[in-house]
Formats: sequence, C-alpha cells, structure tokens
Amino acid sequence: MSDPSDPNQNTPAGAGHPRGHGQGSGQGVLLDLPALRRAIPHPPDPFGRFGPYGGRYVPEVLMAALDELTAAFEEAMADPSFNAELDELRRAYAGRPTPLTPARRLSKELGLTVWLKREDLLHTGAHKLNNSLGQHLLTKRMGKPRVIAETGAGQHGVATATAAALLGQDCVVYMGEEDTRRQHLNVVRMRLLGTEVRPVATGTATLKDAINEALRDWVESVGHTHYAIGSVVGPHPFPLMVREFQRVIGEEARAQLLDAAGRLPDLAVACVGGGSNAAGLFAPFVDDATVRLVGVEAGGRGPGPGDNGAPLNFGQAGVLHGARSYLLQDPDGQVLPTHSVSAGLDYPGVGPEHALWKDDGRVTYTEAGDRAALDGFQLLARTEGILPALEPAHAIGWLAAAARAGTVTPGSLVVLNLSGRGDKDVETVASILGMDAEENAEGGRHDG
Ligand SMILES: Cc1ncc(COP(=O)(O)O)c(C=O)c1O
Repeated sequence: MSDPSDPNQNTPAGAGHPRGHGQGSGQGVLLDLPALRRAIPHPPDPFGRFGPYGGRYVPEVLMAALDELTAAFEEAMADPSFNAELDELRRAYAGRPTPLTPARRLSKELGLTVWLKREDLLHTGAHKLNNSLGQHLLTKRMGKPRVIAETGAGQHGVATATAAALLGQDCVVYMGEEDTRRQHLNVVRMRLLGTEVRPVATGTATLKDAINEALRDWVESVGHTHYAIGSVVGPHPFPLMVREFQRVIGEEARAQLLDAAGRLPDLAVACVGGGSNAAGLFAPFVDDATVRLVGVEAGGRGPGPGDNGAPLNFGQAGVLHGARSYLLQDPDGQVLPTHSVSAGLDYPGVGPEHALWKDDGRVTYTEAGDRAALDGFQLLARTEGILPALEPAHAIGWLAAAARAGTVTPGSLVVLNLSGRGDKDVETVASILGMDAEENAEGGRHDG
C-alpha cells in the first residue's frame, strides 16, 4: 500500500502524481483520478477489534446504525466516484497536498534533520478537516440530513461546521463548558458557520462529557443523523474509518520525503490525544521496520491521578465511549479527571489501534508535560517563524528534549506532524508566560 508508484495511492502533485490510470484497461479513456479505489490495509477483525482492543460497547439501539455505517464506509472506499469527489475536495477546497517543510534552523539547533508535515496549513488550520470531509460526504451518501459532533479544542467542531456548511447539512456540536471558555474563538467560528454549539456542563465539562452528550443525542436521532466522531476512538467502524480518512497525512509525507530526501525517515513523531493525526501519519509507515514511530501524549503536571492526559503511559485497559483501550481510571474502574494545557489532548482514553501498537511494541508512546509543550511552542516560533497549536507543541517539546538528552541519534532524519496552527492558543500561552501582565506593566511597549 505504501508504494508511491501505486495508482491507488493519493500522492501529492509533484511527487509522482499518477496520471492516465483509468479503472481498467480497454476503456480507451485516460482519467486524471489520483485515487480510484482504496484498499484498506490492516483492518480490524470482523468484530472491529484490534487484538484485544476496540469492538462495540454500545446500546442495542445503535448497533444497526453502526452496521449501516460500516457497510456504507466499505462501499464508499471501493467506489471510484466517492474517492474522486473526496480527492477533489481535498485539493480544490482544503488545500491538499499540504507542504513538507524543511525546518532548517530547528534542525541545526537540535542536531537533526527535521521535516514538518504542515497540517496547520490545511483549511481551518488543523488536520481535523481530513476526517470531516470524508465523514460528511459519507453522510450525504447515506441520505442523512443532520450531523452531530463533539469537540474538545474546538478544531474538530470547526472542521465539522465547515464541512456541514459546504455540503448544506444541519449541524449541532457538543462542547464541554470548560472548553467553550478555553477555546472561545472556535465557538464563535462554529456559530458563524451556521452550527449550533451546545455547551455541556456535566462531569468535568470537557471532551469526555461532550462525547457522552453526543452519544445520547445519537441514540434518539439515529434515523436521520450521523455522529461524526473526531478521532480514532469510539465503537467500530470509527477507529478504522477515521484512520483511513487521516491516512492522507502519512501517504503524502512518505512520498514527499522520498522525493526530497531520497529515503524514508528514521523517526516519525506525532502528538496523541484520541490519536487521529498520529494514526494518519503512522499508518503508511507501520510496515517499514526501519522507521521508528513515536507518539507523544500529554504529560500535564505529572504522572499523578488527574494530572495528565496520557492513558498509554499511565492507564490500564478499560472501556470508554464504546470501545476497549487504555484508559485513565481509578482502582474501581472509574474514569479519572484529566489535565493538559492543551484542550485537544485533555482526554482519558485513546484509540484502540494505538493500544495494540503499544502492546506490539511497534510504536513507542511517551509523554511531554505542559512545560515541555510551552518550550516546544516557543522553540518552533523562534526558529521557524511558525506558531504551532499546543497539541503538536508536545511533539516538538519531546523531540527537543530527546535530542538534547541524546536519546534520538544525532543526524536522524525526522518527520514531525504539525497537526495544527497556534492561533487558538496564543492567549493561553501569553497568559502562562505572563506576557499579559508584562504588557500592562510596560504600557504596551512590546508593540513598539
Ligand atoms: C491541532 C490538534 N492536534 C491534535 C489534536 C488531538 O487529536 P488527535 O489525537 O485525534 O489527532 C487536536 C484535537 O483537537 C488538535 O486540535
């Protein structure tokens, strides 16, 4: 699947873009369709399980909808017209392929060769739109007029609202009240796009509670509503489907790096919340044994209960939101509260395939705390002129610390997924760094 010369691959323009491959021989027509029929490598078993993880732990009433969704997704993946429409939206609307940028000054500072996969430059400013375009097209195909979603940092909510506006769908987004405060800008963006944002005040009023509310809505509205989950979490087929809609990140990065550097990376790094941007980056590399894969979770304030969002580092197997995976829980199996400076990583669970990759040892899962993420944020801003979202700032912070500690071999070729841009986090960072206070004290002298 990872062969860049495969006509079924979604390779970026200028990096082996395949032309002239029709659906079969003998038609006498040369089509310029980059991806005609997508096979699905490494699927879960027929019950939606990745090893002992995944599955479907949902009320009976949702089982038929999940079966319908699975069938619709499989049919769509095998349908050239669905893939052609999705590719057209990716290119002409969303701005794919996103660039692979050589991070020259960062590389020099760390003694590595670092390339950044620029999902921050995708329309709406994060990788989440890859998934939304796929799921909303599927919703249209299933004949459902309404989409609901949950959001943490607001990026999935914005991507959902965007795709709904584009395709003329009714849209409701559930968001924890705490997150509506932290990510007010994204709440306004969603409302301007015509989406109803419903704040959720239950529990810790963050992402987990928003998912609970969205699931409740879906149980009642499943006949005419699709629930567009924003990460590789939830019951089958969501972990598989979201991975496949995000796979474009890794497929492009792989082809672009082969083109630019002539070889595969030594290391691919991404941050892990629910795990969709990491799954999208890693999936096309999992069969390349020489490529080390590292997922970076939110270490928050530390390893103690309630202080982080790092289930693969500090959790145990359990069931949450319809699937079995690693989970932050107390000895009685109650889900623990979480903490991270970044709303998008503030989640007690993680996608089931990551759990399997961890147990298999194929991917190494580490963590970076709030402080390391802020260091990563400032480092990228200072060396490359890019303000990253706080989520991928965890990956940058980890890479910088690992390079300085010598746990990444000097000179390594690294691809790092810059999953989103930092505009949404500027106020959070400024207030933690005390810039607001400085500004007031100095009467705004910073602005010159
Ligand atoms: C920019 C960005 N990166 C990463 C994430 C984490 O999600 P995931 O692990 O599914 O990629 C989010 C979540 O909102 C995000 O906004």
